[in-house]
Amino acid sequence: MFVRSLTATLLATSLLLCGGEAKRLAARGPSTRTHRAQHTLASEPVDTSNYRFLTNKTKPHVVESLPDVHYELGEMYSGFLPARDNTSLFYIFQPKIGEPSNDLTVWFNGGPGCSSMQGFLQENGRFSWLPGTYEPVINEYSWVNLTNMLWVDQPVGVGFSNGTPTATSEEDLAADFIKFFKEFQEEYEIENFRIFLTGESYAGRYVPYISAAMLDKNDTRHFNLSGAMMYEACIGQWDYVQAELPAYPFVEQHAELFNFNQSFMADLKDTYEQCGYKEYYDEYLTFPASGVQPTKFADYDDVECDIYNMIYSEAYNPNPCWSPSKVSQTCPLLWDVLGMPTDLSYQPGPTSYFNRTDVKKALHVPEDINWELCSIESVFVGADPGPQQLYDESPNPTEHILPRVIEATNRVLISNGAWDYLIITNGTLIAIQNMTWNGELGFQSRPTTPIHIDMPDLQYAAVFDAQVDYGDLDGPQGIMGVQHYERGLMFAETYQAGHRQSQDQGRVSYRHVQWLLGDDEKL
Ligand SMILES: *[C@@H]1O[C@H](CO)[C@@H](O)[C@H](O)[C@H]1NC(C)=O
Ligand SMILES: *[C@@H]1O[C@H](CO)[C@@H](O)[C@H](O)[C@H]1NC(C)=O
Ligand SMILES: *[C@@H]1O[C@H](CO)[C@@H](O)[C@H](O)[C@H]1NC(C)=O
Ligand SMILES: *[C@@H]1O[C@H](CO)[C@@H](O)[C@H](O)[C@H]1NC(C)=O
Ligand SMILES: *[C@@H]1O[C@H](CO)[C@@H](O)[C@H](O)[C@H]1NC(C)=O
Ligand SMILES: *[C@@H]1O[C@H](CO)[C@@H](O)[C@H](O)[C@H]1NC(C)=O
Ligand SMILES: *[C@@H]1O[C@H](CO)[C@@H](O)[C@H](O)[C@H]1NC(C)=O
Ligand SMILES: *[C@@H]1O[C@H](CO)[C@@H](O)[C@H](O)[C@H]1NC(C)=O
Ligand SMILES: *[C@@H]1O[C@H](CO)[C@@H](O)[C@H](O)[C@H]1NC(C)=O
Repeated sequence: MFVRSLTATLLATSLLLCGGEAKRLAARGPSTRTHRAQHTLASEPVDTSNYRFLTNKTKPHVVESLPDVHYELGEMYSGFLPARDNTSLFYIFQPKIGEPSNDLTVWFNGGPGCSSMQGFLQENGRFSWLPGTYEPVINEYSWVNLTNMLWVDQPVGVGFSNGTPTATSEEDLAADFIKFFKEFQEEYEIENFRIFLTGESYAGRYVPYISAAMLDKNDTRHFNLSGAMMYEACIGQWDYVQAELPAYPFVEQHAELFNFNQSFMADLKDTYEQCGYKEYYDEYLTFPASGVQPTKFADYDDVECDIYNMIYSEAYNPNPCWSPSKVSQTCPLLWDVLGMPTDLSYQPGPTSYFNRTDVKKALHVPEDINWELCSIESVFVGADPGPQQLYDESPNPTEHILPRVIEATNRVLISNGAWDYLIITNGTLIAIQNMTWNGELGFQSRPTTPIHIDMPDLQYAAVFDAQVDYGDLDGPQGIMGVQHYERGLMFAETYQAGHRQSQDQGRVSYRHVQWLLGDDEKL
């Protein structure tokens, strides 16, 4: 069997991170940040006469402009609100554009430890500044077209948020968020809104636990949880079920994108068979589910069976610009305003956008807070490593919490990008097949219903229109994935998308949100 020795960084990426959005080994230790919010904005006035949430109290939080964004921002607020003890969480709030709505959708990035400003700037916000692009552009598929949006840096220790991490579990994190969220609604005089929680990757743990904490409140004035959506979600035992197990079938399926030689492929196949993965995979990736799956953890000391990292480390040989979060990525490494176009830090251009003094000023953030995409320090400080080896002691969501959220709302969407190696679609499906909700184990039948995207391109329409004979070429996309709905849970796979679905497939993601809000019964 072929065995490659692994670098510490690679091991850290996969060992410590469900969905690996952070790039470095998280050293545990207290944060030294203790800043308080200040409000020091001074720039030319914008027309705020039709702002829905503008009061004397919220006025200091208005974001009038953002550096390098050459479009009118519309109504937007940012600031800090208290969580537990002397901590506070940072948020950006943008009300729905057009007809007002009484829905509030919250977005979380994962990590753990990654800032939701990434979602705001590169995934679902009104503007996007994507890797390799010259300047921010209007995101034609922004979720603010559909719902009021709130991006929050949490837990304590993430992004701009203030204080020393103390969370030892998802329950702790949820308690902090609940406190913040109530304060937020009081600040903006919001009551009786429908609440939707969304996020990606490690937020596959945040979303169900915060949802459950909201249900516990019995307070529909503030916590009328009406649905939840998780992208590339860390819902099961990630290391074994969502990574080691489906890794080889994934490579086989996408062989052309990995471009491994025949002997390496043969080594992988041997490993897949001899380490028991094939047997387990064939036994449990079935519809209906064949039974409760025996508990498994990846044993990283058994290097010969660590097939996930064998693939991870080999992939960089043929393709140095390989990205586990989107396996179709090839060179060059793109300049990225957030500094991380792949696993590698790469900043040939100006400094990280949210770390810029002018950006901090525009967002009412004290200058001395350093922003990083993903926190270097651990944001969980449990005594026990927990199922994800991250000192987050809570059980995997598939065990109890996620079923409870599905049963309470009957509107939960779990979706995966087909080109994501961090969270592999079939691994997510196996995790779902080990979950009992609304009286049955797993899905009864295999996802096969196509997702048709009939919306024409809006993002590049002007570019096509400007070119003779190209105006009509950017029409509807056609089949862009598969969907499957049973007993309150919608599963979807998105084609031509990696770990950040709304960045890669804005039209599909737009459709997901329409479904979440209840506008459509099918995707
Ligand atoms: C808001 O502040 C202005 C100026 O300080 C004051 O005139 C006005 O009465 C305040 N409005 C409310 C509702 O408190
Ligand atoms: C919060 O900060 C104040 C002032 O620095 C301090 O006196 C207090 O002990 C702190 N409380 C907690 C729970 O850390
Ligand atoms: C979203 O809103 C923007 C700005 O009003 C608009 O240009 C765009 O077409 C809208 N997108 C969709 C999908 O409706
Ligand atoms: C919420 O309501 C449920 C059922 O109505 C009840 O069992 C529970 O004790 C209530 N919880 C709180 C915190 O009031
Ligand atoms: C809570 O949301 C549901 C829809 O999810 C709605 O039917 C219900 O009226 C809302 N309840 C309150 C008290 O606003
Ligand atoms: C996922 O599993 C199905 C069988 O259920 C298989 O047909 C498909 O090729 C697998 N996809 C990948 C990417 O491994
Ligand atoms: C195939 O790839 C492996 C891993 O990089 C390498 O060790 C081996 O020499 C390659 N074999 C051939 C025949 O090129
Ligand atoms: C499957 O679910 C059972 C019951 O929740 C749990 O004990 C077991 O650890 C799960 N298996 C895996 C591989 O996560
Ligand atoms: C942010 O800015 C500070 C101060 O200029 C600098 O020390 C730090 O390295 C920067 N961090 C990032 C991620 O750019």
